[in-house]
Amino acid sequence: MVPKHIAIIMDGNGRWAKERGKIRTAGHQAGAEVLKDIVKAADNLGVKILTVYAFSTENWKRPKIEVDFIMQLLGTYLKKEIPEFNANNVQVRFIGSRNGLPESVLEELDLVLASTAKNTGIILNLAINYGGREEIITATKKIVESVQKGDLKVEDIDEKCFENFLYTADLPAPDLLIRTGGDFRISNFLLWQLAYTEIWTTDTYWPDFTPEILQTAVVEFGKRERRFGGLGN
Ligand code: IPE
Ligand code: IPE
Ligand code: MG
Repeated sequence: MVPKHIAIIMDGNGRWAKERGKIRTAGHQAGAEVLKDIVKAADNLGVKILTVYAFSTENWKRPKIEVDFIMQLLGTYLKKEIPEFNANNVQVRFIGSRNGLPESVLEELDLVLASTAKNTGIILNLAINYGGREEIITATKKIVESVQKGDLKVEDIDEKCFENFLYTADLPAPDLLIRTGGDFRISNFLLWQLAYTEIWTTDTYWPDFTPEILQTAVVEFGKRERRFGGLGN
């Protein structure tokens, strides 16, 4: 079975560049180029939602020069890809905190969200300035506000209700998580949503990721038995 929702931790850009004697930012540039092919490949495989981790709430710790480069890259990438997204019927969405993102990025982001909102094909969900803990805290604050306003009763807070306050409110949890770059950790990605997601990792750095590797991950996913705490088949 093809996973309906794939999440990707696109890691290894810096190491990819270093191995080639280039500066780290060259890795980010190369990584951005790869994404469009992977969106198309996911769509061709029948994947309905692709959530990609582009910048975490912890990535602000990096040198200003790298952060500035990534922000600028995000802005130009989003703007440049709008015609391609529309040609491929890709609906772009955003998860993360707007707080702290430069105005220029927010403007391009809003533009791409509005321009692709009516597209009915694959959903490309961009995690930018995203952190799982931040998401859960933000959701909790919204829930408390709803209770204080009298719109929500404490006894009505269950998992379904809680999910409705997350950035991923109307999306199902990922079926498959792919991490490139060889590390075996979540790095604060989709902490709530990954509870029963199948995890697949590869040593390949993100700029070297290909549609063929994506297909391998999907085939591996098809061999897994998901039990969700039950006894399975
Ligand atoms: C992932 O690549 C992209 C971002 C986190 C923005 P890295 O920049 O983390 O690359 P490595 O892990 O240092 O190789
Ligand atoms: C995760 O990669 C974040 C993104 C890919 C955007 P990191 O490179 O930030 O993760 P750690 O620091 O190795 O855990
Ligand atoms: Mg990394």
